[in-house]
Amino acid sequence: MMLDRLYQTVKPALFRQDPETVHDRVMAALDLLSRDPDKLDRIAAEPDPRLTVSLFGLDIPHPLGIAAGLDKNGVAFPALLALGFGHVEIGTVTPRPQEGNPKPRVFRLVEDRALINRMGFPGRGVSEVVAQAAPRKQSKMVVGCNIGPNKASVESGTATEDLVTGYRAMASMATWVTVNVSSPNTANLRSLQHKTALREMLTALNEERRSLVWRPLLVKISPDLEPAQLDDLIDVAIECQVDGLIATNTTISRPASLKSHLRDQTGGLSGPPVAALAVATVRRIAERTNGALPIIAAGGIETGADVVAAIEAGASLCQTYTGFIYRGLAMARLVGAEIIAELDRRGVSSIANLRS
Ligand SMILES: Cc1cc2nc3c(=O)[nH]c(=O)nc-3n(C[C@H](O)[C@H](O)[C@H](O)COP(=O)(O)O)c2cc1C
Repeated sequence: MMLDRLYQTVKPALFRQDPETVHDRVMAALDLLSRDPDKLDRIAAEPDPRLTVSLFGLDIPHPLGIAAGLDKNGVAFPALLALGFGHVEIGTVTPRPQEGNPKPRVFRLVEDRALINRMGFPGRGVSEVVAQAAPRKQSKMVVGCNIGPNKASVESGTATEDLVTGYRAMASMATWVTVNVSSPNTANLRSLQHKTALREMLTALNEERRSLVWRPLLVKISPDLEPAQLDDLIDVAIECQVDGLIATNTTISRPASLKSHLRDQTGGLSGPPVAALAVATVRRIAERTNGALPIIAAGGIETGADVVAAIEAGASLCQTYTGFIYRGLAMARLVGAEIIAELDRRGVSSIANLRS
């Protein structure tokens, strides 16, 4: 596969540079590509119907999508979709622009195929993001919009207002809206996962959904919740008509298996070392809800086997961030081929039949 050979050739040079600098350059290239419909048509492959997944009344052409944080400003999603990903979640977008934490704030733990980041939601603010992203979104593109509060709003206790602002600005372009209450890099953000705060926030968002435009609403959760906290969160999500959970964000834990000397950097750890926590979270949600609440799995998903395992644990869709950094531009196609091989091995005709 040409894209794969290209990425494997340039990867050593990319990995010698600062991770965020490389990220910004790759996003700039994908931004350019996203503005060129002819080129997009040329790289887009015919999706394999055996990979189609149904969710929220849509047929989504590939079970693997891009997790929030990669295309924070919503400039690269047309190119990422053309590369074969089934969906892209843009954001996290905050109402007002903000800088995020001081650099460096992303670290590659190469020996662990992992990353640690403490970005802290840098971004252009929701008006600018929507102005750029909305005109590029064609109706068939599956684009989740991930919203979060500004740091100052969490500090002043007005996070809910920020989330309502985010929903209002993004809902009309969004296939679904995800509330990010699980980033470890904004102090106190994760306390919004607690029962009372979560119920208050979801009630405010439901009022906004009712009066504006009703989009599926998802909550993205941490892999670090205690079992009792997770159970409370699931119950509140059901009570407040949440349409799905994204499990999970990065972890602040540091598994003993980590080999990289960067393991003690502050921030959220992602990639294979978070996979066990993430899959356990998916499984617990599926069990507690008897499979009634859609789950999007994220956390260490790198291969077709990982996608199949997440779906068997109860997920409807999967997302990747760190895997994309290590596997590269051909990842969606490689994973698609791996899933098909796994289905063939098991004698299952399509991914939709995996759990039936
Ligand atoms: C550099 C970086 C930035 C991220 N930024 C966000 C973000 O803005 N919002 C969010 O909800 N998750 C963010 N995430 C978390 C990912 O979306 C994902 O949930 C997590 O990394 C686990 O998946 P992975 O192991 O495939 O990376 C970020 C992850 C990384 C590595």
